[in-house]
Amino acid sequence: MTRVLLGVSASVALYKACDLASKLTQDGDEVRCVLTRNAAKLVAPQLFEAVTGRPAATDEFGAEREGAMDHIALARWAEALVVAPATAALIGRLAHGLADDLLGTLALAIDPARVPRLVAPAMNPVMYASAPVQRNLARLVEDGWTLCEPDTGRVACEDVGPGRLAEPERLRAALRALLGS
Ligand SMILES: Cc1cc2nc3c(=O)[nH]c(=O)nc-3n(C[C@H](O)[C@H](O)[C@H](O)COP(=O)(O)O)c2cc1C
Repeated sequence: MTRVLLGVSASVALYKACDLASKLTQDGDEVRCVLTRNAAKLVAPQLFEAVTGRPAATDEFGAEREGAMDHIALARWAEALVVAPATAALIGRLAHGLADDLLGTLALAIDPARVPRLVAPAMNPVMYASAPVQRNLARLVEDGWTLCEPDTGRVACEDVGPGRLAEPERLRAALRALLGS
C-alpha cells in the first residue's frame, strides 16, 4: 500500500484522474487528491473524495484548510506524487518552482530523494508541441520528474496528435514501475 498524492489540474481529461484515483484505491493504495482552483471549477472535489474515501484539497487558506500548513503536511504524508492531468499552465509553474497555490507549493516541499514524481501532460497537440511546453517538460525531467508521455489521438477540441492524457491503466503501470524501481 502506497500513500499516493494525486495532483489534478484544469484539463478536460480530469475524468481520467478520477478513474485513476478509483483504481489505485481499489488496489489498496491510500490516495489523497489535490485539485487546482481551476480544476475545482470543472468538477467538485467531492467526486474525488467519494472515490478515494479521503478528503480532497484545493486551498490551504480559509475554511477548507485542514491544519496550519497543509502543503507541508501533505508533502510529508506522500510516498508518491502523480500529477495527472498536468495542464500547460501547471507544467510551467512546476518547472519554474512557482509556489502560488497548494499543489505548486507542496510539489516543492516534497523531498525528491524520497518521493518519486510522475507528471502526465494533457493538452491540445499544438500546445503540447509548443516550445515553452517542451522546454518546461525537459526542465522537469532534468529535475528528476518522470514523464508519462501523452497518447496520440483526437483530443476534445477535435485536433489530432500527441496530447491526450495517458489512459488510467498506463498511468497506474507507470506509477508501479516508478515505485518498483
Ligand atoms: C473545459 C476546459 C478544458 C481545458 N483543458 C485543458 C487541457 O486539457 N490542457 C491544458 O493545458 N489546458 C486546458 N484548459 C485551460 C486551462 O484550464 C487553463 O490554462 C487554466 O489556467 C489552468 O489552470 P490550472 O493549471 O491551475 O489548473 C482547459 C480549459 C477549459 C475551460
